Amino acid sequence: DKAGFKHFMAKEIAEQPTVLADALRGYLNGNTIFLPDTLPDFAKVDRLVMVACGTAYYACLTAKYWFEQIARLPVEVDIASEFRYREPPISKGTVAIFVSQSGETADTLAALRYCKGKAETILSVVNVDQSSIARESDVALPIHAGVEVGVASTKAFTCQLNTLLLLALNAANQRGTISDTDLASTLSNLRALPGLFNAALDRDPVMADAATQIAEARDVLFLGRGLMYPLALEGALKLKEISYIHAEAYASGELKHGPIALIDKTVPVVVMAPRDALFEKTVSNMQEVMARGGRVCLITDAAGAEAAGDDVWRTVVLPEVDPILTPLLYALPAQLLAYHAAVAKGTDVDQPRNLAKSVTVE
Ligand code: F6R
Repeated sequence: DKAGFKHFMAKEIAEQPTVLADALRGYLNGNTIFLPDTLPDFAKVDRLVMVACGTAYYACLTAKYWFEQIARLPVEVDIASEFRYREPPISKGTVAIFVSQSGETADTLAALRYCKGKAETILSVVNVDQSSIARESDVALPIHAGVEVGVASTKAFTCQLNTLLLLALNAANQRGTISDTDLASTLSNLRALPGLFNAALDRDPVMADAATQIAEARDVLFLGRGLMYPLALEGALKLKEISYIHAEAYASGELKHGPIALIDKTVPVVVMAPRDALFEKTVSNMQEVMARGGRVCLITDAAGAEAAGDDVWRTVVLPEVDPILTPLLYALPAQLLAYHAAVAKGTDVDQPRNLAKSVTVE
């Protein structure tokens, strides 16, 4: 049931404020995070290995920043199809985490089986509770996204991020790398996030306008730094999946190491950058793009919009948010951009060509 929306994807994007609030209720009571007692004590864990495919892999790349910065835990992230055949050494103090919406992705399941008997704990983060990946794990954490019908993952991505963030905060708490006050303030900001999701969804007309123009491009570049880098990768994947426009993402700092050669007036550049400590560097990246005629669509906050100046082609202003939570909030405009570009191109949004919702063969 599309609940009055034209596509399941539009419905699944729009319901994220409610879905996130529900997902949070599944794990939080006030400032206490409830996770199964079968989880290992992260104070005794040496390292994490995170494995997934596609959008779930980008959720892992995001979580790497959280686990490393907040919990001071080293993390290796890999694509399941690479990991399984590389047969990497797994030491005893390793927790292996597998992230999958469907819980049936063949490569992710094979990577999980490879880690059995090697890793300390096999942990999965899934949307389908009774899936193969959930059943074969020592501990399965549900993301509580509800059924996702659109082939392009939207609400499952934000709910994967939410679950992984709570896990990282819990690990930080056990490892003594976060103070009680910082933990409490992050959790209260997280509880307020569904409200900010609503504000981000209100930017829909601006995103639709930018997307309609971007839909005419043959190539689109996405740039981001730090936590926004995996988000740029996700934005590019979403756009190519459903609009069939070639899109690539780079870490902003890599621009001058190659991709800048692509820039001319036909290549829109989507920059995802809240005003943070490194924003000045992003501004100089944008100037390099604009000096070559590139059209910059900047997704930022009010302070970022002000600092970016007037030459930016389109600015999308999101509410200010706790820096740790930016990946969840900035996912929404990335999804809207892809959605509206696909609608402008008249593609089959919910069933894009050549793609399946669950990839059970390698
Ligand atoms: C992207 C998308 C795919 C999946 C990938 C993994 O929108 O849907 O990239 O994320 O096939 O699927 P799961 O999470 O089911 O393992």
